[in-house]
Amino acid sequence: MHAATSSHPKRILSPQGEQRARGHNFLTLQMASATLLKSSFLPRKSEWFNARPSSSSQPMAVSFTVRAGAYTDELVKTAKTIASPGRGILAMDESNATCGKRLASIGLENTEANRQAYRTLLISAPGLGQYISGAILFEETLYQSTTDGKKMVDVLVSQNIMPGIKVDKGLVPLTGSNDESWCQGLDGLASRCAAYYQQGARFAKWRTVVSIPNGPSALAVKEAAWGLARYAAIAQDNGLVPIVEPEILLDGDHGIERTFEVAQKVWAEVFFYMAENNVMYEGILLKPSMVTPGAECKERATPEQVAEYTLKLLHRRIPPAVPGIMFLSGGQSEVEATLNLNAMNQSPSPWHVSFSYARALQNTCLKTWGGRPENVKAAQDILLIRAKANSLAQLGKYTGEGESAEAKEGMYVKNYSY
Ligand code: 13P
Repeated sequence: MHAATSSHPKRILSPQGEQRARGHNFLTLQMASATLLKSSFLPRKSEWFNARPSSSSQPMAVSFTVRAGAYTDELVKTAKTIASPGRGILAMDESNATCGKRLASIGLENTEANRQAYRTLLISAPGLGQYISGAILFEETLYQSTTDGKKMVDVLVSQNIMPGIKVDKGLVPLTGSNDESWCQGLDGLASRCAAYYQQGARFAKWRTVVSIPNGPSALAVKEAAWGLARYAAIAQDNGLVPIVEPEILLDGDHGIERTFEVAQKVWAEVFFYMAENNVMYEGILLKPSMVTPGAECKERATPEQVAEYTLKLLHRRIPPAVPGIMFLSGGQSEVEATLNLNAMNQSPSPWHVSFSYARALQNTCLKTWGGRPENVKAAQDILLIRAKANSLAQLGKYTGEGESAEAKEGMYVKNYSY
């Protein structure tokens, strides 16, 4: 099964063999987990760079090409599968602290059992995979079982949903800035990604934020872009499709023009640093905020205006090689997020334009559940209604008819954190 053995130092690895061996190598070296595999399977680190045939007439491939290419085909395939017609991402990767706030809103304690019950409800909604191609999980969920003892990851795969993983370690104050923040998580990221891949994850998410009222300062934008680019390169190197998410927060009373201006700056820098870090654009997904006025701006924008500004931004800044744009909902109401997505899909785009919503998929579902076992089915039905509405919006066919008042309620929370 394993193409590489350390007794064949010059042996050429198949891409799959190299891939497996490298994943194993990271695990063994960095997690020191001798039980996962026998060290005799492992190529020496120097062999990664000798993994391409070298002939006298052809120059030896440089090490970068070999390392970046190990998962190329798989990354492209994963990204395309997630960005498939009529489907989007269910973001259910709230950290334990944030999940606690959600549970508190329905009067539940923040225990592992309650988080498990809620996430079991979400992923086992019958037929969810028709509308949802990927689910972003928090680390606890990736390693957790459902309330009836199946691995969460297996349930997702059986629903035709790819498991993904939040890999950032959250936001902390950015010293020297205007009260802005930066995102932690690069230390040890390669070994964590390798372990997550072994556990079944096939894509990753890193969310950093940019605040308009606080600047954004050049320092904060550069730090956000650089962090995303380093993360994206490391995730790809370990077989995970990186979702690149520089969230431009809704906070502020600025108009839509200002959001557009800041978004142009942010995305220019993100792509500049991704190019510098040799990130392969066919194997990434983006998770932008839609271009809207600030939450406290008196002038509101129609879905058509949001679509116009957002598409203009994307056309100016995003190469067509990128397979998918998976928007966050950022505090918009469930219906607003769906209407805006639908407006963006009224004309063809070079990318799959879809959703990766947390609040705009889960809000009414969570309230309907209320922590009661007898409400599980009703809550799952609500989740399926939202997932289907967004699936239709991805296809540009959502009408907005028959939506409940609850689904129209805004969810903006100042300084919201994940
Ligand atoms: P919201 O859709 O609630 O903004 O969540 C986005 C997100 O980043 C979660 O992964």
